[in-house]
Amino acid sequence: MNELAWGTNNDLNENQFYNRVEDIKFISDLLRSSQYGTSPSILLTGIRGVGKSALMKRIQKNFRDENYLVVYIDLSSSNAYQTDEFTRESLIELIYDEIIKECGESGITTVDKKIEKYIKTHDVALKEIVNIKGYPVPFLWTKKNYKKLANFVMELPQYLYDEYKEDINGVFLFFDEFQIIKELGDELTDFLWYMRSYIQKQNNVSYVFSGSMSVKDNLIEEIAGSNGAFGGRMLTIEIKPFSYETTKNYLNEKADYLKFTDDGFDQFYTCTKGIPFYINTFGNLLPRNVVLDASSVKENFIKFLHVLAMHFSNSWFRLNLQEQKILTTLLDESLNRSGIAKKLNVTSGAIGRSLNRLLNNGFIEMENNKYYMPNFVFKAWLKNEYQTKGVYPYKSI
Ligand SMILES: Nc1ncnc2c1ncn2[C@@H]1O[C@H](COP(=O)(O)OP(=O)(O)O)[C@@H](O)[C@H]1O
Ligand SMILES: [Mg+2]
Repeated sequence: MNELAWGTNNDLNENQFYNRVEDIKFISDLLRSSQYGTSPSILLTGIRGVGKSALMKRIQKNFRDENYLVVYIDLSSSNAYQTDEFTRESLIELIYDEIIKECGESGITTVDKKIEKYIKTHDVALKEIVNIKGYPVPFLWTKKNYKKLANFVMELPQYLYDEYKEDINGVFLFFDEFQIIKELGDELTDFLWYMRSYIQKQNNVSYVFSGSMSVKDNLIEEIAGSNGAFGGRMLTIEIKPFSYETTKNYLNEKADYLKFTDDGFDQFYTCTKGIPFYINTFGNLLPRNVVLDASSVKENFIKFLHVLAMHFSNSWFRLNLQEQKILTTLLDESLNRSGIAKKLNVTSGAIGRSLNRLLNNGFIEMENNKYYMPNFVFKAWLKNEYQTKGVYPYKSI
């Protein structure tokens, strides 16, 4: 059956996953070269909803079938991130958990299940790995020793390759939502260089970093820029929205119940900008088997704005009042820092923290010293809230 995947599902089956043939080939060829002892690092960029996670999961599936160990690490799934305590330790623990999990799925027995549970439920770190009957078993101690744990985890991928090279062709680590690493704050640069020191020693392990970052994001410079931690050794690949033609073919093939007029389709493409998240979400919400002209597409777009802007509206309600006010001053114009401060009637110094948080979370970006809101659906949602309710949905004081 031909159906569009839901916008919240990035684990697409073969029927749901569309196109990206060239991206897959390009990235896969690069990764495959790790077999011969050269391991490139890749940075996948692209705006939220463009399909980075879906693409990584597809590539992961392909490589699993070719006997690679492909570890997918989603930084946003870390408990620590969800409870606002993202640290180096929590990241290292997440990497460890995911490696062990993937080994399990691939039928590679690394550690005893009980010990794995022990690590999770106790505040312990690993002391050393001991080989017992051919299986590496971690020994633990009860006091945290972050350094040892970190070194162990960072070395584990190459270690697994060396131990299991009869069975596996290579090891890949895919990091998703990597922009969350910015939560490390002052320790960020240091940590990136630390990772780099391990990564460059590993001949049979490849790393892919991905996250919803605009090309202007400072993090990209920190990682892949000429002075960044990975210097010239990292290849940046931008995943682009579907083109007009691709979107058209996609819907013809997968959603022929959407009966657009020519204008209607143009309007649909303008509303979704070819971003698969919006294409699928909006495409699933539109009425089926009725003629959709430009004005009915527009009408439905406004009707469903709150669903389309879901990610941002959820995050909006977690912002503090000052952050929210900064955003509403940027709805119609881009402003520099003092311009924003003036509108809010505060000093420039008073909004530094809020601006940083908004930048880190992708709510705003900066160009030529001016801040602006990059996400058109989020902007449309806020404006529509104002138009229909007469006020912005500010946090009450
Ligand atoms: N190649 C694709 N074919 C069809 N739908 C896709 C494709 N890539 C992404 N999508 C849709 O877009 C949504 C968002 O994709 P996702 O990979 O989560 O974006 P990102 O990780 O870039 O934010 C997915 O849930 C899915 O519905
Ligand atoms: Mg994603």
